[in-house]
Amino acid sequence: MAKIIDGKAVSAMIKESVAQQTKELVSSGIKPKLAVVIVGDDSASRVYVNNKKKACEVVGFESVEYALSKDTTQEELLKLIEKLNNDKSVNGILCQLPLPKQIDEEAIITAISPLKDVDAFHAENVGHIMIGNYTFLPCTPAGVMELLKSENIEIEGKNCVIIGRSNIVGKPMSMLLLQKNGTVTICHSKTKNLKEITKSADILVAAIGVAKFVTADMIKPGAVVIDVGMNRDENGKLCGDVDFDDVKQTASYITPVPGGVGPMTIAMLMQNTLMAAKKQNNIN
Ligand code: GUN
Repeated sequence: MAKIIDGKAVSAMIKESVAQQTKELVSSGIKPKLAVVIVGDDSASRVYVNNKKKACEVVGFESVEYALSKDTTQEELLKLIEKLNNDKSVNGILCQLPLPKQIDEEAIITAISPLKDVDAFHAENVGHIMIGNYTFLPCTPAGVMELLKSENIEIEGKNCVIIGRSNIVGKPMSMLLLQKNGTVTICHSKTKNLKEITKSADILVAAIGVAKFVTADMIKPGAVVIDVGMNRDENGKLCGDVDFDDVKQTASYITPVPGGVGPMTIAMLMQNTLMAAKKQNNIN
């Protein structure tokens, strides 16, 4: 039976550390500020944005929300981004994805100043991650790395398999595992013999977006299984990409949904925003 990795507890520790450092910054007159932009009325995005704002309050940051209507034009959003780039009181800019169809996400990500890009989505920051000398960590993959660290799970030399090749999770996840000397395989919708590959994984990261996709027959006994998914099952209950009750019998470690990777993404966002505030004020 797998040990359940408690993402809520690990994220609380990270936020506590961010809160401590924020106290020191505030006493020297600097209060980190995150601008959160949400366009349209996607209910999942609304929940994520509310959680991010709540976390800002917990660690002692200021946050400001820009909620724009679903028919906002790309030009209007670009104007707002430019205003936030030029606003010295704003340290971090987060534009919640996905954006409505009329807006080119790439254009928006590119418009955000790399110095305020606390999601680490800008090509400049992605390039730094690829080279390995980054300032901003991609939040969800960095959260996964913290979870592995919290259980002293070794990565070096291990077969690390990621299902999903998104810019937000799969691709940056592969880079962080590679930097720790894992042997990394990325699987996706066109992968042949998926089960054969996942069965070779010592560490399996599921970031597919399909409820309960990963089942016990896809897992090597004793594997570490990290679930990045956030879906609703047939009864409308929150669930991940991993069939938790099935896979927990076979894995050595597993993350739950909710309470696994989700809270870590937010904790790492807080860390990035703190880092942005420090950098912009020439503090190490
Ligand atoms: N949509 C899903 N995950 C994320 C994230 O980490 N950041 C932003 N900005 N949008 C998202």
